[in-house]
Amino acid sequence: MQDVIATYYFRPRSDTKPEQAAQAICEEETTGTWTEISTRTNYVKRLDGAVESLAPQGNGYITRLRYPAEIFEPGNIAQYLSVVAGNLFGLGRLESVRLFDVEFPDSLTRFKGPKFGISGVRRMVGSKDRPHVGTIIKPKVGLTPEDTAAVAYEAAIGGVDLIKDDETLTDQKFCPIDRRLPLVMKRLEEAKDETGREVLYAVNISARADRIAERALHAIDLGANMVMIDVFTTGFGALQALGEDPRIKVPIHVHRTMHAAFTRNPEHGIAMRPLARIIRMLGADQLHTGTVSGKMSHDAPEVKASIEVLKCACAGMKPTFPVSSGGLHPGKVAHEIATLGTDIILQAGGGIHGHPDGTAAGARAMRQAVDACMEGTSLEEYAKDHYELERALKHWGTS
Ligand code: 3PG
Ligand code: 3PG
Ligand code: MG
Repeated sequence: MQDVIATYYFRPRSDTKPEQAAQAICEEETTGTWTEISTRTNYVKRLDGAVESLAPQGNGYITRLRYPAEIFEPGNIAQYLSVVAGNLFGLGRLESVRLFDVEFPDSLTRFKGPKFGISGVRRMVGSKDRPHVGTIIKPKVGLTPEDTAAVAYEAAIGGVDLIKDDETLTDQKFCPIDRRLPLVMKRLEEAKDETGREVLYAVNISARADRIAERALHAIDLGANMVMIDVFTTGFGALQALGEDPRIKVPIHVHRTMHAAFTRNPEHGIAMRPLARIIRMLGADQLHTGTVSGKMSHDAPEVKASIEVLKCACAGMKPTFPVSSGGLHPGKVAHEIATLGTDIILQAGGGIHGHPDGTAAGARAMRQAVDACMEGTSLEEYAKDHYELERALKHWGTS
């Protein structure tokens, strides 16, 4: 495949035929505009897009558009998106339109991708093939650096593989990175002395794109073994700055907060799948792709469609570890694993810190639920001789 193929679902305005609508998107994103122009030279024709297919689907239509690869500046993700996810969303001739997927030719996917990938993160933690368990420091903001570190310690001795800042905690006065990070790493060292296990701490370094690499390097100087970024609020360029900087030698955990502004509406916006492809190319070692049973709106086929492009063979890139997070607790682990597989990070904030016996017990209960699934035992059966899991199932149930 030499060109870019973008797939859209759309509903045309009542006065517009579907083929006119598909053609309008195609022209808007390649060489056309709303009317004929005198400046259109013959040689520009080579950059015209083409409607490859158009068929009815649901309340609208699905169309595959071919955009000549030459239109795209290799390596410039911002420009790629300005084409495939640009003005088209505002076209008056469309009632609604959603970018469903985008496939790039190899010539446009020459990105380094994840530095660590799934196997690299597994090697750091020492896991073979089981799902990883993560937690989020809760309350999401407000704790002092000392209390943040205490929560991290409890989660670590309880058995999590990963602890992350929440997406709204960065470098606020009440919990500056310069104090929070060294204290958390010190407590994780203590936990490692007791358990022998390396636990990753994803410190949220979301910041201005021109300063984020400097903040990442400062975090690494302070002992960070992982960094986290809110990719949609900081921007793809910020992630690319981290992913392609050889000095940043720690895995990158990518949160997707704000995504639901454009992924949630099945009639209009951008599906997570094409975004996941791009975020992997830019160097995400881990990416939130949603749960199939959590608090956020979820659609299992869409979650699986995103996970598929994080792991598929793509220009020699390492796969990105998918993260299922948002409203999970031990009782939901079996359904998540049954639907999403074991190469997954199951994260719980409330589902660990809300355990009746506290954070360490919540972490143990999550690990016990994973261990039950890995040995093919039901949670209820396994809970009979695993106290923390029994307490969790009594507290939250399994639905
Ligand atoms: C959260 O921040 O509450 C969860 O991580 C939700 O994440 P998602 O919207 O990416 O599923
Ligand atoms: C996240 O950032 O992943 C979420 O805040 C998850 O939090 P929850 O498990 O309490 O929903
Ligand atoms: Mg959160």
